[in-house]
This record gives sequence, structure tokens and C-alpha cells, in this order.
Amino acid sequence: MKERQMTHTVENSPIKTLRPDQLTTVIDEETIQKRLKEMGAAISETYKETDKLVIVAILKGSFMFLADLVRYIDVPCQLEFVRLASYGNSKKSSGSIRPVDLTLPNLADEDVLLVEDIIDSGLTLSFFIDYLQSLHKTKSLRLAVLLNKPEARSPQVDPVAIDYCGFEVGDEFLVGYGLDYAGFYRNLPCIAAIPPEHQ
Ligand code: IMP
Ligand code: MG
Repeated sequence: MKERQMTHTVENSPIKTLRPDQLTTVIDEETIQKRLKEMGAAISETYKETDKLVIVAILKGSFMFLADLVRYIDVPCQLEFVRLASYGNSKKSSGSIRPVDLTLPNLADEDVLLVEDIIDSGLTLSFFIDYLQSLHKTKSLRLAVLLNKPEARSPQVDPVAIDYCGFEVGDEFLVGYGLDYAGFYRNLPCIAAIPPEHQ
């Protein structure tokens, strides 16, 4: 019988991982896909007159959301990626953003849609939107997030306007569907929580 709980060493810290059946499903695969289809339709409607939509996804967390969402968008798109880090191996935001890769083409006069997995304290998106606006005079800038944790918003962060939101969730740490804990669980097809007895 395979061990149900394993301990890994990540950057010198012990990290326990659970098997998918030990996690609590918060949003199942079917519900995610149904919602993404609606979001894709809404996005396609907004940009129906647009020649080109530039989608900028924030990695790593948004990779699965992006991959599924774009299949439901039927306007011509170009995909760009940036990478920002804020969590390290913890379940709480470090409070500072580490820009790992901000390489982007010139976005002047482009219709730009940002795609992010989750908005928690709001720090990451607030940082990135300010950064983008300081460098690029886009034609339009909108934001699609899969998950919004409104209760977790930091009072120090200016409100971030979300144009397309998948689901509102409570202030608990979630994994799966791109979201990780210390790099693990991103591959799960659903959004899940780590049960309190395993925290
Ligand atoms: P914020 O800067 O606090 O809004 O957090 C945004 C980033 O933190 C997201 O892009 C995620 O990568 C990560 N994050 C926030 N909440 C969670 C969570 O519940 N699980 C996993 N990652 C999270
Ligand atoms: Mg992220």
C-alpha cells in the first residue's frame, strides 16, 4: 500500500502532500468547465468587433485556467505570459511581489485581457496593473480571474476592478487547477482545500 501522506523537502523545508482523495473538493471539474464556457462567451461578446485580443496570463497559477478559457473564446487572440511570485512555500502571501519574468511585446493600442488564477490580498494584480499602465498605453485593459477571495483583500491595496470572475470563495487556502502549495497540486482538475486535520 502506497503511503497516503508524503513528506518532501522543498527549499530545505519539509512539505507534506496529500493524495487527491484526501483533499476536500470545493469546486468540481464540471462546475469549473460550465463557468468557463460562460466566461468565454461573455469575453467573446465584449470583443466581437476586435481584430485582435492580447491575452496576458500571469504564471504559474493561471496556466490551466488560461488553457481551458481560451478554448471558449472565439475572437482572434495572441497569448503572452509573465511570471510573478509572491507566496514562496507558505500558505500566506509574503506581502512582496517577485517579478520573475515581465517580458512583453509593445502593447500600445492593443485590447489587453489579463488572466490570473486568484485575487487574494490584491497585491499581485495591483502591482502588475500599475506596472503595465506605466509602460504601455493600451487601447483597453480588462481582467479575468478564476477565483476572488474578497475577504482577504489588503486594506493597503487600491481596489482592483474585476471584469470577469469565475467564482467568489471564502478566505481559505485552496489548491488545484493551477493553484499550488509549495509547487504541488497544480495538476488537479478541480479546486480543493486541505482538510484542517492535515494543515
Ligand atoms: P495576492 O497578491 O495576495 O492577491 O495573491 C495572488 C497570488 O497568490 C495568486 O496569483 C496565487 O498564485 C497566490 N494565491 C493566493 N491565494 C491562494 C490560494 O488560496 N492558494 C494558492 N495560491 C494562492
Ligand atoms: Mg499566481
